[in-house]
This record gives sequence, C-alpha cells and structure tokens, in this order.
Amino acid sequence: MKPFYVTTPIYYVNDKPHVGHAYSTAAADMLARYHRLRGQPTRFLTGLDEHGLKIERRAQELGRDPQEFVDSMVPPFEEAWRQLDITNDDFIRTTSERHKLGAKRLWEKLEASGDIYLADYEDWYCVGCESFKTEKELLPGNICPDHKKPVEKIREQSYFFKLSEYTDKLLAYYDANPDFVKPEGRFNEVKSFVRGGLKDLSISRSSFSWGIPVPTEPKHVMYVWLDALTNYLSALGGPAEPGEAPLYDQFWGADANIVHIVGKDILRFHTIFWPAFLMSAGIRLPSQVWAHGWLTVNGEKMSKGLGNFLPPAPLVEAFGSDVLRYYFLREVSFGQDGDFNHKNLIARYNNELGNGLGNLLNRILPFLKKFDGKVPAVGTLTGADAELASLAERAAAQVRDSLDSVQINRALDAIKELIDAANKYVNDEEPWNLSKDEAKLGRLAEVAYVTLESVRFLSLMLAPVMPNKANELRAQIGLGPLEPTVGVDAWPARFGELAAGTEVTAGKPVFPKIDAKQEEALLARLVPAAVEGAPAEPKPSKAEKRAKAAAAQESAAPAAEASEVAAKAGDGTIEFDDFAKVDLRVGLVLSAEKVPKKDRLLRLEVDLGEGTPRQIVAGIAEHFAPEQMLGKRVVVVANLAPRKLAGLVSQGMILATDVEGGLRLLGASDDVAPGTRAK
Ligand code: MSP
Repeated sequence: MKPFYVTTPIYYVNDKPHVGHAYSTAAADMLARYHRLRGQPTRFLTGLDEHGLKIERRAQELGRDPQEFVDSMVPPFEEAWRQLDITNDDFIRTTSERHKLGAKRLWEKLEASGDIYLADYEDWYCVGCESFKTEKELLPGNICPDHKKPVEKIREQSYFFKLSEYTDKLLAYYDANPDFVKPEGRFNEVKSFVRGGLKDLSISRSSFSWGIPVPTEPKHVMYVWLDALTNYLSALGGPAEPGEAPLYDQFWGADANIVHIVGKDILRFHTIFWPAFLMSAGIRLPSQVWAHGWLTVNGEKMSKGLGNFLPPAPLVEAFGSDVLRYYFLREVSFGQDGDFNHKNLIARYNNELGNGLGNLLNRILPFLKKFDGKVPAVGTLTGADAELASLAERAAAQVRDSLDSVQINRALDAIKELIDAANKYVNDEEPWNLSKDEAKLGRLAEVAYVTLESVRFLSLMLAPVMPNKANELRAQIGLGPLEPTVGVDAWPARFGELAAGTEVTAGKPVFPKIDAKQEEALLARLVPAAVEGAPAEPKPSKAEKRAKAAAAQESAAPAAEASEVAAKAGDGTIEFDDFAKVDLRVGLVLSAEKVPKKDRLLRLEVDLGEGTPRQIVAGIAEHFAPEQMLGKRVVVVANLAPRKLAGLVSQGMILATDVEGGLRLLGASDDVAPGTRAK
C-alpha cells in the first residue's frame, strides 16, 4: 500500500477564508479520506502563506505589525476547516521556524547545484499575483490581466535561479510522465508555455523585508513563491537526509503517491518552477498536480469591488458541512470553472439527497418491523436482486477508479447512478404491497436486504465526501461509524456482507426536505446583495418556473391570510423574519477621505471582519471631518444592495441619528470586534 500525500495550496492570509478556498480544501479532504478508507498510510497538508509584499502591505494598511497580523489570521482558517470537517494531519505556516529551516535548506541545495547567481533586475511585478510579468502578458496601461490593477516596476539587485537551463529537462519530464498535470488541456497549456523557452527567475527581493532571509545575504529575502512552494517539504521535515525525518522519508519517498491540488491560477508555479527547483535540488517530483477551476458566486466573480467574497461559515451553519462539501464537488466538474449558486444547492439537496438517498432508506425502514427490526437473512440473490447487487459492485469499482485518478465528479456521478437504481428497484418491487400479504414476506425480506445492503455500499462510497451523513446512514442500518485503519481496505467490493440479524434503528430523516418557505428565508439570509449593473440571477428554467408556480399556488392561501392580518394591524409593524433580513454589523473605520466635488460625501474603508475592508460612501461630510472618522466603531447595514454614489460603489450604509446640533453616529464600544452582528 503506497503512502499517499495530498496537499492544498497554502492560502494567503490577506483575506479570510471564502468558498474558493473551501472548495480546494474540501476536494483534498475527500481524497485524503478516501485513501485512508482504503487503508493507505495517508498524509494531508494545508496551511498558510504568510510572507511577501502583499501581506506586508496589508499589515501596513491596517497599522499592524506583520507577525501580529498574520498570527491573527490563523484562527479564521483553522475555524473554517474545523467547521467543514477537514481532516488535515498538519497545518503549515510559512512564518514557522520549521518551515524557515526547510526553505533555507532548499536554497542551499539550489546554490550547491550552481543554479543561483546575483544580478541587477528590472521588470514588472504584480503584487496581487506576487509574480513577475512580461509586457506581453499585460493589458494596455500596464494592467495585470488577473487583478485588473497596474503592475509595478521593480529595479533592484536580485538572486536569480537558472530556470532557462531547465526548459529541455522539464519538457523531457512531461513527455515521460503523461499524467503529471491534470486536466490534460491545462497540461498542454503548460507544455506550450515551456516550449516557448524559459527565462531565468528572480528569486530574491531586497526592497522589503517581510520574508525568509537568504542564507548567504540576509539583506535579501527569498521570493515568496520559492518560500511558499517549499511548504510541501518543510511540513514533512524536509529537505532532509535519509533517516533524519521519518515523515519526509515516507511521504516524499520514492514510492509515495504525491498529489498537489491547486487552482488553475497557480498552475505554472507548481508545474514549472516547483519541478525545476526540485530537479536542481536532486529531490523527486510530485506524482501529480491537479488544477481545478474557479468558482463564481451566483454567476459573478468574487471580488473586493463587488463585496461578494462568500465565507463558508454561514453556509455550514445553514446546510451542515456534509451538504456543502457534496454540493461543491458534485456541482462543478473537477477541473472546469463552475458556479456556486445558492438555489442550485437547495435544489440538489432536495432532489439528490432528500428525494434520492434519504428517501431510499425511509421507504424501506418501516417494513423492518416485520422482521423484529432486524436485517433479515436471505439466500442466493437472483433476478432484479442480483442485477442491483452487481450494479452496486460495478459502481463501487467505478468510484474507486475515479477517485484513484482524482476524477471527483465522475465518482459522484457513479454514486448517483446507484442511488437512482436502488430507488427504481424499490419502486418496482413495491415493499408496501408485499408487506400486506403474509405469503409475500419472504420476498419482502429479500427486497429489504438488497435495499439495506445498497445503503451500506452507499454509506462507504459517500464517506469521503459526506463523512457525518455516511455515519448517520450507517447508524440507521445498525452499523457503527467508520474508523479507517492503516492496512485494512474498507472499500466495498462484495455485495452481501451486511450480516443478517443486525438491529436496525430507524431515526430522524437524514436529509429533511427544505420547503419553499424555508428556501425563501435561506436565500434572503445567505445570498449576497446584487451589485448595480451586475448580471442578474440566471434566468429560471421552464422546470423551475413550473415548480415556482406550483409552490406559489400552494402557499397562496396562508400568504393572503398573513397580509390580511398585517393590513388589519395597520400599525407599520413588521414580522421578526423581516427584521432578521437586515444584517447589522459593527464596523471599524480604517480610512476616510472627502469625495472630490461632493460636499456631503465621505469615502470610507470600513473593516467588517471580512478580511477585506468595504468601501462605504456616506453623506456625512458636513458633520464629520475625515480624521474624526478614523478608528470609530460604527453600525453598518451590511446587506444593503450596493449603490453607486458619485461613481463609487458603496457597499453598505452607516447608521446615524439626527439630533439638535447635528448628526450622531450609532456606534459600539471598543471591545466589540469588527464584524460583530447587532441583534
Ligand atoms: N499563496 C498562494 C498559493 C501558494 S501554494 C504553494 C495563493 N494563495 S491564494 O489564497 O490566493 O489562493 C489559493 C487557492 O485558493 C487558489 O489556487 C485556488 O485553489 C483557491 N481559490 C481562490 N479563489 C478561488 C475561487 N474563486 N474558486 C476556486 N478556487 C479559488 O495563490
């Protein structure tokens, strides 16, 4: 059993975790859980990228010491991964001593190979990407195509890595390892980029200091990507000599299966720079770099300007971590871009999990009463029973092969096929009719057995993506929670291993339905406000329109009653649910300036505890000078649809009250953290 090592990118700490990060991490976690279930020694690493100009500047903007700032960003990530049931074995931070040691050792190896030299450097740099840019890559006006911001000219002394000497070696490696980069289309892009020839790479900076000092010249700090990529080794105690670091020997050893999960945006760093550094250092290369696509949110790119960075926590709170993980990995074809759409999430939940998987169990459990609540014994399976049994075995093999080759959505497709086939089987066999006739109890026993055994198969196949729900399903069919053990392959293979006599304990529905009213409330609470001029929600499909019309009809009567009551009350009161829609939060004013030519307006940057401050344009300039606003705690309507004022997008509204003598701001005391909700 080969050791399996899976990693996520280490995330920059300039922003708090959002669904894009959660997507990468959930995919890696699914793979780790799968390999553990197969009994393989498994190691799963995630962590944080804490150095570089971007982070240094962010700390400066906030007026904080960089180390203190990066330390403060650790809990939000740890908390997010805990909430999403992420089972990382380690969490690496690039400011940790063990990481600095690894980075220093790798640098020394590159130097010992004669691949590092000192020279003057002049080029464009995008701080957002933390990457050098050639003029060819830039948009007119020297704008970075990814960050849509002007790049900066860097002129300084720098150490260089002789990347140009690795062009042919990399191409030869790609040829010899056709599965090195996935998906294939992305591999082709990488190859053609390398075929175009590689320039030497600047790997140190001397104009700022927030990084790991170059061992021989501490006035330079290492290029943040060289520093960051080393995390995959440093977390294992590497680079190290054999026998020095057991984890490194095992999980970076010759026979380990090493998979880096990355977003498509950082593919070149992982498939060109990283392999070249490793070749230079005489260290083996990872087995595979898997580049997934990017998520948009309800059809829009996540961006600071739109204020729609979606944090995972409210989604976990609303749907639970299993459902969110399932949705991420089911909705988006792994490797392609995809959209996170709240409505689709609820539709998939209701259709595939509620009506599909949950129903399967609910439709058979009631009939177990006929067998004293125990799994009945059956003989050899034939006919429809044998067909479903062999379909389940094929599905398990298909999911296994798909996950072995990181085809995550193919695995989930195969699971869905088994759920559908098992439901069809129950429909065809009609256990509700069999149970009415004593003469048919033998047949009922077979149908019950085959259905429960299918659920057992499904609980194992789904465990990597929905670990808690898998255990809930198991509990209802009388099985204990899964406890993966190294050396024991628990993957389902043979249909018929569910032991007769196992006591079945029907419990609460595992996937209770979200009805139209609940859906409306969830959407109102969770969907970020649309931005002026941004594309509207995707047009509803015909089926959605029909479903909506039906739901409207169903709820027409109570709605009419409710509005009648309100009309009678006539006192302007609102329901609690209406009040709950207003997201009031405490904000900390980080900067304030007058809006040119607008006497009434101030442009503020307000920290709402989201990692990135919001721009709020407020009509308070006649009452407050910009400097009076700095450091003030204010109350912000955080989910007000963004509006343009004097050409600036205002992402929220500050509350104030008009008293004699002028405007007063509603505020909070200094011990209330930015982002805290008012309720
Ligand atoms: N720090 C570097 C990675 C260093 S790895 C040695 C970095 N960090 S990042 O925080 O900006 O982004 C890391 C990863 O987050 C992306 O590659 C991608 O995996 C994920 N995502 C960030 N936004 C995303 C979406 N909107 N959608 C999906 N994933 C995205 O780059």
